[in-house]
Amino acid sequence: MLSWDDFETKAKPEPKKQEPQPVPGALQTEQQAVTEPSATYEAGSASSASAPTAAQSSSAVEAARAAIADLDVAPGLEELEMGAARIQVDEKRIINCRADLNQLVPFKYDWAWQKYLDGCANHWMPQEVNMNKDVSMWKDPNGLTEDERRIVEYSLGYFSTADSLVANNLVLAIYKHITNPECRQYLLRQAFEEAIHTHAYQYCVESLGMDEGEVFNMYREVPAVAKKAAWSLSHTQSIGDSGFKTGTTESDQELLRNLIAFYAVTEGIFFYCGFTQILSMGRRNKMTGVAEQFQYILRDESMHLNFGIDVINQIKLENPHLWTEEFKQEVTQMILEGMELEVAYARDTMPRGVLGMNAAMMEEYLHFIANRRLSQLGLKEQFPGAQNPFPWMSEIMDLRKEKNFFETRVIEYQTGGALQW
Ligand SMILES: [Fe+2]
Ligand SMILES: [Fe+2]
Repeated sequence: MLSWDDFETKAKPEPKKQEPQPVPGALQTEQQAVTEPSATYEAGSASSASAPTAAQSSSAVEAARAAIADLDVAPGLEELEMGAARIQVDEKRIINCRADLNQLVPFKYDWAWQKYLDGCANHWMPQEVNMNKDVSMWKDPNGLTEDERRIVEYSLGYFSTADSLVANNLVLAIYKHITNPECRQYLLRQAFEEAIHTHAYQYCVESLGMDEGEVFNMYREVPAVAKKAAWSLSHTQSIGDSGFKTGTTESDQELLRNLIAFYAVTEGIFFYCGFTQILSMGRRNKMTGVAEQFQYILRDESMHLNFGIDVINQIKLENPHLWTEEFKQEVTQMILEGMELEVAYARDTMPRGVLGMNAAMMEEYLHFIANRRLSQLGLKEQFPGAQNPFPWMSEIMDLRKEKNFFETRVIEYQTGGALQW
């Protein structure tokens, strides 16, 4: 181990004289703030070998002026067909809208804006959660049973990459094709929340000192995890293709498939076994920090799911020709495929009863969840009479931040309170 004494015998170089440097991130004094611009300006003058000459600077400024003089003010990033007329609410559509997408108001879909506001009100960060008890429990050879350890490892293994799949699908595939600014506002919020979720899983893996490579590569190596990830990925490829365009029945249905695969199945079914297992652990006072992270994530995810269901149903309403009998059958099958994959995951992660649950109870729960997803999409339930064996899961989803289930401290955010002019 190195100590400062190791350096004593070496000749110390004469310290170079230099101006005091501002501490990164620290507030500058008023005087520094005022004098800095002129100092920067002089540093870039002709005295420096690499600096442009006065003549070069002047021609660069001329070129910049000429470029903005010719700037076309009409186009944005997307094709508009409504000219420069003010936006009318009736022109707004979730897909295939040609009205200006840079104008958030007037709102048409109040539910989307409300979800954006609710998402912001639920803001949280992984570092707020105390992980000390989890670290000692994880490192204690008698802290958890082998079955409980497997659940923690598989959960972090699946989720550490699943939220990246969702985030990448949002920004690289669907964002472009959802042609409504209030929905996009929510998508941007959701994308950030997915980044926070991936951060939370990384934070758990790091806190517990787990093998990062093993956990993050599980979606390629462990079959129960890999199959779910592969199913989600198979529904993102065509939409993410740069040549993909909505506007035909086939392509609009393809976009719907993607939304159903990600919102109703990935976020609406694939997350449920792992969430139930980890939250059940927390209810038994085990790994309460990890469970608290999952509790916040579950609350965000239930909002993502509800937003996705609203978007899908609104697209159906505005484009009834897409929702054919054949397509309804296909969607029903997608929900059932997702449920089957999740049941297989439950069996792999729970070869025996653990934490007051077992694979058979989870299967019934997943039948109940599949029924719920089908009815939310206006489709026929496939498991009549399926009951929810874990009613406490719904209670956790509805918890407000200040009524924390595990009664740990939560830092409330101060927005705008730090700036002083
Ligand atoms: Fe997420
Ligand atoms: Fe999500």
